[in-house]
Amino acid sequence: MAERRWRICASEDLPDAGLGVRFQAEWRGVPAPAFAVRWAGKVQAYLNECAHIPIELDFNEGDFFDLSRSYLICSTHGAYYRPDTGLCLGGPCKGARLTKLAVLEEAGEVFFLPDAQP
Ligand code: FES
Repeated sequence: MAERRWRICASEDLPDAGLGVRFQAEWRGVPAPAFAVRWAGKVQAYLNECAHIPIELDFNEGDFFDLSRSYLICSTHGAYYRPDTGLCLGGPCKGARLTKLAVLEEAGEVFFLPDAQP
């Protein structure tokens, strides 16, 4: 069976360290809210669930970066994460991680790969 791929958005919808795109992913066979951002040129995607309390990170839709545009930040208590690994560097869940998802960028489109490992 061919590996599934779900379109998230066009490549141009993800400016580097800019607004992200929310999408519906699948995690362990269950629909789950997720998001994609671009950082250092590469698309990264995670479940939209803080490692502190399982709530969504973006209070303003798509706004996942902190003011320095260097970290992903949870708008509730300010946990901040490396954009490339999802590792929490500071805040109430320091050392924990966002759940990373597999994505593919090809021919100007960004896809979520529900069956692949990130
Ligand atoms: S819910 Fe994200 S830091 Fe507390």
